[in-house]
Amino acid sequence: EQRMNWDGQRLVKYKGFWLLQLLFRPMLSAHNNFRAKATDVILSTMPKSGTTWLKALTFSIANRNVFPIDQTPLLTSTPHMLVPFLEFNVYWGQENPDLENVPCPRIFATHMPFEILPDSIHESDCRIIYICRNPLDQFVSHRHFLLENKIEKEADPLDIDEAFDMFCQGIHPCGPFWDHMLGYWNAHLENPRKVLFLKYEDLKEDITSQVKKIAEFMGFPFSQEEEEQGLIDQISGLCSFESLSKLAVNKTGNINGIVKNTSFFRKGQVGDWTNHLTPAMVERIKKLMDSKFRNSGLMFKI
Ligand code: A3P
Repeated sequence: EQRMNWDGQRLVKYKGFWLLQLLFRPMLSAHNNFRAKATDVILSTMPKSGTTWLKALTFSIANRNVFPIDQTPLLTSTPHMLVPFLEFNVYWGQENPDLENVPCPRIFATHMPFEILPDSIHESDCRIIYICRNPLDQFVSHRHFLLENKIEKEADPLDIDEAFDMFCQGIHPCGPFWDHMLGYWNAHLENPRKVLFLKYEDLKEDITSQVKKIAEFMGFPFSQEEEEQGLIDQISGLCSFESLSKLAVNKTGNINGIVKNTSFFRKGQVGDWTNHLTPAMVERIKKLMDSKFRNSGLMFKI
């Protein structure tokens, strides 16, 4: 089954999820050929949920003894180059790239739903970190992002009412959002040592405790001495929206000639949806979330 997304890109339905056709082939290559190692860390997200932020944080946490903070590769390379997407970078145009020599811990990112992850990610002892975001902000952020990046459009973009209607039907890249989130949420409940479940809003509210949690989960906990030296604050500061968005490397260039580096940094706030969505839209999504997340324990503050 195929549909046009609201921005005019083609979506294909696969195992119950709407995936961008553009990424379908590389996703299948990753699915078939990626061999996870026990030391790998896989970052998984729906688009526009804090991927760039999580990439910068996990890279900085894992490499804090390799690069002093004032020589971090984040100054000269984007978070997306340091932590590549399996489908958008690693398997883009390559059926079976050699990843054996990537230094450990290898950190890769993906937007794949839990159910579609390569089998070896499920079978190995590698860890998965999932970050999600309040769906209203995710929708608003994604709409801006897709309209800004003109990616192989086959049709004219829809207006916000029609786009929101599709979003609420679950027809959007990686959608339905509730199934994407619940896949990882349930996996986290079943095995919290395998899947860490984070929310963008929690990182905004208290980055220190979240950075500590991420580091512990990755197997790189901060020592007392590191904490006293203020390393957590340094990493949090370096990876903040204000800091990352100002770095020269993020202000120019693009990924795969398609996605502008600047498009990953817009406002970086919680609650921007209040500027874009009507009360009726908010009411509709509240009801939808109530019904989809009922009894799951997953909740978002709106
Ligand atoms: P907005 O469009 O609401 O500003 P992703 O990284 O998953 O593509 O998500 C992009 C969203 O995260 C954008 O949201 C972007 O501004 C925000 N973002 C990027 N870097 C961030 C950071 N370091 N801290 C907080 N938010 C960040």
